Amino acid sequence: MKDIRTRAVHVINEPQAEGSRPLSVPLVQSSAFAFDSAAELARAMAGPDGPYVYSRRGNPTVRALEHTLADLEGGQSAIAFASGMGAISGVLLALLRPGDQVIAQRCLYGGTYAALADLADRYSVEVRYISGDEVAEFESYVGPRTRLLLLETVANPTGRVPDLPGLLAAARRHGVIGAVDNSLASPVLCRPLELGADIVLHSTTKYLAGHSDVLGGAAVFADDALRRRIWPRTVELGAAADPFAAWLTLRGIATLPLRMREHCANAALLATRLEAHPAVTAVHWPWLPGGPSYAMARKVLSGGGGLLSFELAGGREAGQGFVEGVRLARLALSLGGVETLVTHPASTSHRELDERALELAGIGPGLVRMSVGIESPDDLWRDLEQALTGA
Ligand SMILES: Cc1ncc(COP(=O)(O)O)c(C=O)c1O
Repeated sequence: MKDIRTRAVHVINEPQAEGSRPLSVPLVQSSAFAFDSAAELARAMAGPDGPYVYSRRGNPTVRALEHTLADLEGGQSAIAFASGMGAISGVLLALLRPGDQVIAQRCLYGGTYAALADLADRYSVEVRYISGDEVAEFESYVGPRTRLLLLETVANPTGRVPDLPGLLAAARRHGVIGAVDNSLASPVLCRPLELGADIVLHSTTKYLAGHSDVLGGAAVFADDALRRRIWPRTVELGAAADPFAAWLTLRGIATLPLRMREHCANAALLATRLEAHPAVTAVHWPWLPGGPSYAMARKVLSGGGGLLSFELAGGREAGQGFVEGVRLARLALSLGGVETLVTHPASTSHRELDERALELAGIGPGLVRMSVGIESPDDLWRDLEQALTGA
């Protein structure tokens, strides 16, 4: 198989323009497709593949993105969605029924956590949370009603990496579907299907698209049978990817390996400098030697990624002061784009948690999360240093 740097550039270019072969994937910005006969249209409506009918069910530009994502993750097929949450909700709603059980990592993205809480509250789905470090924890909960194991390659903002190979193997032994949200690592740093996952989930909004200009999500399947089972439910849900969003995402993917290299190199340098700074009491980045997930990160990732977090000695006030004091980095909630972003989780994404709950989630009052971009690391460090002094 060709290297991922080659595959990211030479995307599967399915749509054609009157026999010619454009270098860029054509944007088919059409909601519906015309037919000559009712019988032909009826045949086309039979399943997920075949001629395009209506873009909520399938579209040539979206299909090109789906083929590309499946190829990058080493899966048989994929479904692209309007957002990462569209992909996660679509998969959860398609696979779960009342009375089923989900086993999930405790430190999940907040939106996923809220979707699971809603499923538990309104649809009687039981959710059990595990740390992700011990297979025994999974074994203590798994039973005949367990349908799904839900993990994230790298937890946000703590940088913890669960025992992906151990947990996914245990899920397989028990006939439980293993799903991994790989948004933070991207297929450049980790391919969960190779570690035993059945489904890889993505917020393509993040590193895959990479330019903070488009929302998107995806589910990639090790076995196409699972896509065929899930597809009718996702068509009902209606969180289909828009062709232009798919086109922008494909455009971003061409430079994904290149960008990931810079994100990782910049994060490594900043993590080391932050560790040595007197205002900083702890730095969390998966590839930082001595960290709690360092051994697992070296085993399942090929780089530390661009997301790091650090704890300021001055607590909540210092954290807030820092994110308001940066001049080059921007205070914004997303991650994975070319520009550096910072947030203070205790006062924003996790503001509803009290001090005890924050501690359980591994989020100190002075914790700052940083999505390290691809700017010059020296310019970034100068900005961080002045903001650290101010905070
Ligand atoms: C790990 C992870 N998964 C899923 C999502 C949701 O993706 P989206 O915002 O594209 O719906 C996010 C968004 O921040 C995320 O960080």
